[in-house]
Amino acid sequence: MSIDLQELFQKNRDWAADTESREPGFFTRLIQQQSPQYLWIGCADSRVPANDLVGLLPGELFVHRNVANLLVHSDLNALSVIQYAVDLLQVSHIIVVGHSNCGGVRAAMTNQRAGLVDNWLRHVQDVRDAHDGFLAGLHDSLRVNALVELNVLAQARNVCHTTVVHDAWQRGQQVVVHGWVYGLHNGLLEDLKITVDSADQVGLAFDTALALVKQRYRQQHAALLAPPAASAQAEV
Ligand code: CO
Repeated sequence: MSIDLQELFQKNRDWAADTESREPGFFTRLIQQQSPQYLWIGCADSRVPANDLVGLLPGELFVHRNVANLLVHSDLNALSVIQYAVDLLQVSHIIVVGHSNCGGVRAAMTNQRAGLVDNWLRHVQDVRDAHDGFLAGLHDSLRVNALVELNVLAQARNVCHTTVVHDAWQRGQQVVVHGWVYGLHNGLLEDLKITVDSADQVGLAFDTALALVKQRYRQQHAALLAPPAASAQAEV
C-alpha cells in the first residue's frame, strides 16, 4: 500500500481513539442503531463535508451526495436513500444543499465538456434553460451562483414529488423538505426558504422561494452596475 494510503489508516486509528476517549462507549452505542433526524442531499464536492459543517456526529445525519446535488425522478440510488430514510429511519427533514461555485453547475452553465458526466449535468442545464432569460440578464460573476440556487429549488421540488415523500405526507408522517446553499467562501449555510411539509404547499413554496432568489440576484446585479454611492463621492 502506498505511503499516502497508510497515512489515512493512521489518521483513522487516531480519530477512533480520540473519539472513544472523549466519549467512552461511543462506538458500542452506535452499533445498536442509528436514529438520524435529517437526510442531507448534497454535492459530492470534497469541500462540502456534510457532518462537519453542521457539527453532527456519526449517527446523526443520513447522507446522499452526487455531482451537483441532483434528485432525478428515476434515479434509483437517490430514491432508495430517500425511501430508507423516510420509511425506516423516519427522518423529519430532507435537506437539499447546493454550494457556491459548484464545478458541476459551472460546467452546465457554460457548456464545458468533461465527459460522461455531461449527461448527468444535462439536468442542471434543463434548470438553466427554464430560466435562461433571467440568467442572461445577470452580471457574469453572478450567473453560476444564481444557477446553483435555482437548481437547489428545482431539486427540492423533485424531492417533494417523489412517491415516497407523497405517501409519507398522505399517511400523516411529518417530513419537511428544505433547500439550502453553502458558501464556500465563508463556510456558512443559507436557507433558500423553500420549506414544504405537505403536497398542497409545493407549488406556492417553490414559486415564493424562486421569486426571492431572483429578487436577490437582481439586486446584486443592480449593485454591481451602480455608480459609486453619493456619500463616497461627497467624501472626495
Ligand atoms: Co458542487
